[in-house]
Amino acid sequence: MIKVTHEITKSFVSESELNAVFSDVEKAHQTLVNGTGPGKDFLGWTTLPRDYDRDELERIKAAAARIRKDSEVLLVIGIGGSYLGARAAVEFIKSPFYNQQKKTTPDVLFVGNNLSPDYIHSIFELIKDRDFSINVISKSGTTTEPAIAFRLFRDEIEKRYGAAGAARRIYATTDRSRGVLKQVATAQGYETFAVPDNIGGRYSVLTAVGLLPCAVAGLDVDMMFAGAEEAMDVCYKEGASNPAWIYAAARNALYRKGYCIEVLGCYEPGFRFMSEWWKQLYGESEGKDRKGIFPASVELTADLHSMGQYLQDGERKLMETIVTFDRPMRDITIPSQAEDGDGLNFLAGQGLHSINTQAFKGTMLAHMDGGVPNIEISCAAPDERTLGQLVYFFEFACGVSGYTLGVNPFDQPGVEAYKVNMFALLGKKGYEEKREELLKRLG
Ligand code: PA5
Repeated sequence: MIKVTHEITKSFVSESELNAVFSDVEKAHQTLVNGTGPGKDFLGWTTLPRDYDRDELERIKAAAARIRKDSEVLLVIGIGGSYLGARAAVEFIKSPFYNQQKKTTPDVLFVGNNLSPDYIHSIFELIKDRDFSINVISKSGTTTEPAIAFRLFRDEIEKRYGAAGAARRIYATTDRSRGVLKQVATAQGYETFAVPDNIGGRYSVLTAVGLLPCAVAGLDVDMMFAGAEEAMDVCYKEGASNPAWIYAAARNALYRKGYCIEVLGCYEPGFRFMSEWWKQLYGESEGKDRKGIFPASVELTADLHSMGQYLQDGERKLMETIVTFDRPMRDITIPSQAEDGDGLNFLAGQGLHSINTQAFKGTMLAHMDGGVPNIEISCAAPDERTLGQLVYFFEFACGVSGYTLGVNPFDQPGVEAYKVNMFALLGKKGYEEKREELLKRLG
């Protein structure tokens, strides 16, 4: 199970400061598990590992099997919480090179997460002459980026397979009853999966939003749920040994001392999109009311050679949280060489994982000496069970941390501002007045 080490933050935060935060964390925990705080209508994810609709899970597995049989590529159309979790899971468990690998499962390509014509052209090139299916994911069913991508790729899939053939290859993950996507899916006869009303996008990895792409890529989704359930047991327990409490307390105690940037790092490059997912989870949950820790990330050891200088010696507002693994999926041993021209024989016979671990320990001590508090989240191995544990742990800790901070961790009012301006500038009906105002400002 996940372990959070906070001892090391104690040189930056006193025992009494930490205890004061712990008492707020305890209250925040009660607010979360009793559903008495703001955003209480969006707590469906808290019990998901136990009460997930098993019939829908079977339907997801059946749909994944069909996609694996008739497609070389699955296009996943979605943005934000409707995209990052699935990408994070596939790259973390399979490989960042998943699509380049020889395999029996389809490539999984993500689109609809930007408005770049060049990106879309590249995806069209990648599906040329290859059978493909589409999983369009949008809880609201109205988000512009995925809606535009769906229009473009729906055109293509209908040209390729005819309307009826296309309908058999399109899977829509959306609201149970509302939204444009739901209406189109019903009219066209697409198979649909539900994003429950009480689960917001960034907390939806363990719904069809994340599960269908994961199952297509061959991830063991039952093991993901098993891991999540283990984390749920641990996170629900009250007390100072609860890893979610330790994490929420450490980061809030540091925030109160002026450490307003948290850098999440990992020594496994496959974790890169897990960090992207984490950034959305914490940034969108906590960054409001002019408060919140700014979530950033680094990929290690690579970024020690780009961001290392700043981390060691730049402005001191940073805390680091490092995710570590006791063992890799596969290790590799350094060979001995007779001439030892590169001077590396002192490492011969060692596994690369243990060298990576020493890099982590050395860096942690150096950064601490440089004035950067470090929190360690240690996990067993980068597998589906750990993935389920991490997803649930980070979500639960985020809820507790958000309430400790005094914000609603389950809304995202700030995301609307850019949309209003974009629609106004694009001339959408109903935005005429705003358009005039913005055009004047732009000159
Ligand atoms: O976490 C969130 O709520 C957001 O990131 C959404 O997931 C994102 O904006 C996409 O929304 P939708 O799924 O409605 O298209």
